[in-house]
Amino acid sequence: MFRIKTLNKISPAGLSVLDQTRYSISGDVENEDGILVRSADMHDYQFPDSLRAVARAGAGTNNIPIDRCSEAGIVVFNTPGANANAVKELAVCGMLLASRKITEGNAWVKAQLAEGADLEKVVEKGKSQFVGPELSGKMLGVIGLGAIGVQVANIATKLGMTVFGYDPFLSVDAALSLSRLVHRAMDLDTIYKNCDYISIHVPQTPETKGMINEGAIHMMKGGVRILNLARGGLVNDDDMLAALESGKVAAYVTDFPNNKILQGKNVIAIPHLGASTPESEENCAVMAAQELRDYLENGNIKNS
Ligand code: MLT
Repeated sequence: MFRIKTLNKISPAGLSVLDQTRYSISGDVENEDGILVRSADMHDYQFPDSLRAVARAGAGTNNIPIDRCSEAGIVVFNTPGANANAVKELAVCGMLLASRKITEGNAWVKAQLAEGADLEKVVEKGKSQFVGPELSGKMLGVIGLGAIGVQVANIATKLGMTVFGYDPFLSVDAALSLSRLVHRAMDLDTIYKNCDYISIHVPQTPETKGMINEGAIHMMKGGVRILNLARGGLVNDDDMLAALESGKVAAYVTDFPNNKILQGKNVIAIPHLGASTPESEENCAVMAAQELRDYLENGNIKNS
């Protein structure tokens, strides 16, 4: 019997991959052979000697102490691409939220009507008060051309945007070959200088941490709109707050709220919803459970 500990709620479709006659699965299992985790922070987790693998139902692995796992011979899996569609759709939504004043218009119209204002007058006033640009014809810089970044680039071109891609871990040619729809792969400085929208899709590593900082923002076009659906630490919050205050950044959409960034002007913050669709939760859970099963049963390693 393999013992699998779940550190978060895992989609039942994922659990059903593991044959119940061979697997004991719960949050209370001890001396586990494998762990299924979504976002729980495992940095202080005490690994039992029995543990052979950790499978993360998601792309990023920065909630897992990779070095400690390697030292202990524990294989860490993730699920690249399994939530890419969900994040792509949220990126489109984020660009529209950053442009069309949807959240402001929604709050305003509700408040006006609650105060008893005349509907016709409210609509008349609102339509001229909440004007925002279209995406079509604008330039988008996609930083990070993994499964998610490529999908964001591709959908953006279908919305009539000109897309420039950059990946810190790929050569220009390799980045271009990933997506026939990215107009050009560029260096970061060129993206910063030219793009109206910048969407970040890189993992958080020592190299990428704080990459959107004062120096980067200084190079950007005035009024740029920035989306961070990747990891909070990629953006220096103090520098972003200053740029929002000055208007250099017109809007910042982040999937990583904290008390500091919420003080900023034109911040649209959501609680890590990038992968929160039933489809994505199912895809990630199924892939993670398959990886765990294939490793525990057959020693196969994919996406580690
Ligand atoms: C990811 O890294 O793919 C996300 O953090 C997944 C999630 O929301 O759990």
